[in-house]
Amino acid sequence: MTIVVTGGAGFIGSNFIFHMLQTYPDYRIVCLDKLTYAGNLSTLKGVMDAPNFRFVRLDICDREGVVRLFSEEHPDAVVNFAAESHVDRSLLDPAPFFRTNVEGTRTLLDVSRRSGVKRYHQVSTDEVYGALPLVGGQAFTEQSALHPNNAYSESKARADEIVLQYAGQGFPATISRCGNNLGPYQHPEKLIPLMIVNALADQPLPVYGTGENVRDWLYVEDHCRAIDLILHEGRSGEVYNVGGHNEMRNIDVVKLICKELDRPESLITFVADRKGHDMRYAIDAAKIRNELGWLPETTFRDGIRRTVRWYLDHREWWQEIVSGEYQSYCRRMYGDR
Ligand SMILES: NC(=O)c1ccc[n+]([C@@H]2O[C@H](COP(=O)([O-])OP(=O)(O)OC[C@H]3O[C@@H](n4cnc5c(N)ncnc54)[C@H](O)[C@@H]3O)[C@@H](O)[C@H]2O)c1
Repeated sequence: MTIVVTGGAGFIGSNFIFHMLQTYPDYRIVCLDKLTYAGNLSTLKGVMDAPNFRFVRLDICDREGVVRLFSEEHPDAVVNFAAESHVDRSLLDPAPFFRTNVEGTRTLLDVSRRSGVKRYHQVSTDEVYGALPLVGGQAFTEQSALHPNNAYSESKARADEIVLQYAGQGFPATISRCGNNLGPYQHPEKLIPLMIVNALADQPLPVYGTGENVRDWLYVEDHCRAIDLILHEGRSGEVYNVGGHNEMRNIDVVKLICKELDRPESLITFVADRKGHDMRYAIDAAKIRNELGWLPETTFRDGIRRTVRWYLDHREWWQEIVSGEYQSYCRRMYGDR
């Protein structure tokens, strides 16, 4: 089986590639990635020379390039992780989000269908459902209406609609909508690595608003196992929510990181809230549990320990990233430090 994995030089895509190569040594994995600021080729260095792995630098919006690659590889399946993925950046400039997340998805679907791909999987997000109130205990099901509140989630919601449109026309496609992931190889612009990297440098830990926003956290390997299951056993045309039942307030996540790194909570600095900051996300993952038998295996506490340990052991990986454009991005978002 040959699987094209797009966005595989990013956080979840790379973890998925490692999972697949380890679980299915007879599969061929072809990673297609544009290598934007969020993609990092060094993440893949451990698999680059594997005989059943190929990396191709390519934009999913480049139809001719994608057609050429698919005519060389004849993929059986496509898993689309490629995306502009950071909400904060979508507030600064939404255009690349609609280009990659919407038009790129359409291009991939179209080329996949024409190339006879037998299964397409779209990696989506719980953020397409919008926000839940802090109290009340509700969680998003697959039937919840889509209410995206920013350009990132809007572009992901539009992409989901296109995938469902293709599935409705008989093309075998599935969607997973997952909560926040934690684990190795995540870009330090995202909450958990940002806090780890800053805490290690004894820099302020910028927390939006009062830090009471709640996210549903899942260790990245659990997410990868869920996608693997959906790809092999999920029903075409279906959406599967994926969540860890690990609801945490941002402020509590940051305090836990301080504790793990033995840094004082006085490093925490509250900054002006993100515009339209969704208050709470929570996922009802009963469908994937009942239909496919998926359950998360890593608790949040273990996940955060493993993640902190990984960033401590892989300084060279993130130090390269934080030395570049990242500095001016942080100044723009959180002010001078
Ligand atoms: N990170 C999370 O917590 C989370 C949660 C739920 C869903 N998701 C979804 O999972 C997917 C992966 O997220 P991530 O956190 O790994 O993202 P990421 O930003 O770490 O990685 C994205 C990757 O896509 C590549 N890319 C961007 N534009 C491209 C293009 N036009 N063509 C080819 N490659 C391109 C980048 O180079 C990068 O390697 C995204 O679709 C995201 O919406 C993420």
